[in-house]
Amino acid sequence: MKKVYIETYGCQMNQSDSEIVGAIVEKNGYELTTELSDADIVFVNTCSIRENAEQRVKNRLNEFEHLKKKKPSLKIGVLGCMAERLKDELFIENKSVDIVVGPDAYRDIPNLLDEVSLGVKAANVLLSEEETYSEIIPVRLDTNGVSAFISIMRGCENFCSYCVVPFTRGKERSRDYRTIVKEAQDLFDKGYREITLLGQNVNSYNWIEDGKKTNFAQLMKMVAEVSPLLRVRFSTSHPKDISQELIQTIAACSNICNYIHLPVQSGSTNMLKKMNRKYTREEYIQKIDMIKKYIPDCSISTDIITGFSGETLLDHNETLSIMDYVGYDYAFMFNYSQRPNTIAAKKYPDDISLQEKSRRLEQIIEKQRELSFQSNKRDIGKEFEVLIEGKSKRSEDKLYGRTSQNKVVIFNKQDLKIGDYIYVIITDCTSATLIGEIKM
Ligand code: SAH
Ligand code: SF4
Ligand code: F3S
Repeated sequence: MKKVYIETYGCQMNQSDSEIVGAIVEKNGYELTTELSDADIVFVNTCSIRENAEQRVKNRLNEFEHLKKKKPSLKIGVLGCMAERLKDELFIENKSVDIVVGPDAYRDIPNLLDEVSLGVKAANVLLSEEETYSEIIPVRLDTNGVSAFISIMRGCENFCSYCVVPFTRGKERSRDYRTIVKEAQDLFDKGYREITLLGQNVNSYNWIEDGKKTNFAQLMKMVAEVSPLLRVRFSTSHPKDISQELIQTIAACSNICNYIHLPVQSGSTNMLKKMNRKYTREEYIQKIDMIKKYIPDCSISTDIITGFSGETLLDHNETLSIMDYVGYDYAFMFNYSQRPNTIAAKKYPDDISLQEKSRRLEQIIEKQRELSFQSNKRDIGKEFEVLIEGKSKRSEDKLYGRTSQNKVVIFNKQDLKIGDYIYVIITDCTSATLIGEIKM
């Protein structure tokens, strides 16, 4: 049996897609391997979000090229967003690439593998308006047996001006809620205790059947009803679409985690307009106020881009001040990276120097470090329900888990196993982790 090795870059959706690819190849007579040296076929599931994400993959492809020199029968496939963005160029840039498959064409992989076994190159980068891989039960890769992702929709049509995703992932489409609930139930039955529902903008989840609509809040409720012991998370919420109904649903269901990732990108209305985010600073703040009103202990994280086209020091300071206002618990922070063919690449010059972008990013990172530390310090003395996820990497006699607020807690190992719920009292912290003691 031919062995397939899958390496994944990029977002959680890509990780989830690799699990779908895993299921498709397994069903068609291939075996999955976690050892690169055993592989007959290597798939790299790729990301185009920033230039450095693509560079990382290109470097890796060069390494695979060397590997192929030693093992000429090895087949190399590029999947995902870079496959969609660069298409045939990938064959030209890297002679060792045999297969190129876009995010909506994974069902075609067995056929494409048949073609390459005849010694030709094969590609399918067709985007679809319907494909959701709805009934495919993913193979869980790289799992702790407790946490899993469920993809609930695909594509994105928001066209934020800086973003490549609408071009690499195509039209937005939702997956039948019944298959989502079934997948959650199956995972629970197999011992999983936490699932994350995934989409680029989960708030616009919308399944219509016989004139009846199911929205994201309703879907969340159905998934949460699988079991009170199943934690439910979701990612990502777009601030323009997060609704009061959803926030109230989170507040009402104890097993929907009190954690919302609500990417702001910038604190300046001018920048937000240019980014085509479709909300102002004030509207974003209103959403934050609504979250804090209904879910007082909700943790909030964000994504921030520094040095977008024309960003002034005033705009930058507005980003720093909105961070203070929200008091983010966590943030993903990036230098703006201009992506070919996006709206921003066509309309707005990339006119902030790398040095200046990085200087601003450093300030933002420093601010976030301080906010995370403050947030963690506020938890000292409090008690949290923690789902145990694994053994601490740093210390043999410690375990780690997460609070509903998505914060990592380290505590002493006792007669406990991964997947158990325990209560922990927080005794200490760093800016990145909570340290606690199990409540007896
Ligand atoms: N759908 C999600 C984001 C997915 S991409 C949302 O809209 O919130 C993840 C993050 O990458 C984005 O939130 C943004 O902060 C960042 N990002 C996207 N394009 C980028 C670019 N061209 N340069 C730098 N960061 C970018
Ligand atoms: Fe990109 Fe905007 Fe879609 Fe997020 S919502 S994936 S940032 S276009
Ligand atoms: Fe990257 Fe594509 Fe995800 S560009 S962030 S892998 S949707």
